[in-house]
Amino acid sequence: MNLPEHIAIIMDGNGRWAKKRLLPRMMGHRKGSENLKKLINDCDALGLKHITFYAFSTENWKRPQEEVSNLMDLLREYLNDHIKNEKENNFKIDFIGDMSRLAPDIQEKMKYVRELYSAHKGIFVHIAMNYGSRDEITRAVKRIAEEVKAGDIEPDRITEETIAKRLDTKDIPDPELLIRTSGEQRLSNFLMWQLAYSEFYFSDKLWPDFKVEDLLEAVESFNNRERRFGGRNEVK
Ligand code: IPE
Ligand code: IPE
Ligand code: MG
Repeated sequence: MNLPEHIAIIMDGNGRWAKKRLLPRMMGHRKGSENLKKLINDCDALGLKHITFYAFSTENWKRPQEEVSNLMDLLREYLNDHIKNEKENNFKIDFIGDMSRLAPDIQEKMKYVRELYSAHKGIFVHIAMNYGSRDEITRAVKRIAEEVKAGDIEPDRITEETIAKRLDTKDIPDPELLIRTSGEQRLSNFLMWQLAYSEFYFSDKLWPDFKVEDLLEAVESFNNRERRFGGRNEVK
């Protein structure tokens, strides 16, 4: 099986997972977070290079305050767990999105964990937290405007690379494959620039139930796709 270099995942369906079991939504998020930990280690064992997870969108602040604060507490727990169990984890980790809107203690923990894991040799995990593609592109455009104003960039010289280098994903290859769980078929403001030519795979599994076997099914489907990038693959 041909593994893509980078897979991006929209982890959706925690709420429905809990609802089906008549549990509070928070239990769904908790199960989702446990599943994330497990899947990361399974993907590391597969030998995948990069994986990006959509954990909290710039639109998720619209949810009831109680849910938002529960999700932030879960993130704290998640980061603490990474600090405590550093020795058992082989992966590298960083975060994309606008960190500045997150609580200062969370920002600190994120930086700390990123540093702590930076010498690891395994899969590179990217967590999208307060991430929105439109917000990311807007931030990049502001930076370019500042650089133009300062005389560091000529408007004529702006290329796709100028933009890509100012996105949060500047050092990461574009994902070849996007997976969304829970049956929804939309991007919800995720990686719109980076997914321009990616293959999409939608799974009906709710996120807490999505296992490495399901990911491998997505990879198998990806292996059967013909990617053309706007060109023609057949020899004339
Ligand atoms: C995804 O699960 C997790 C986050 C967006 C934080 P949801 O909470 O969106 O679950 P559903 O879509 O309501 O089932
Ligand atoms: C997308 O899921 C965001 C994350 C998974 C973090 P949502 O559940 O927020 O998306 P919509 O509202 O159904 O589009
Ligand atoms: Mg959802």
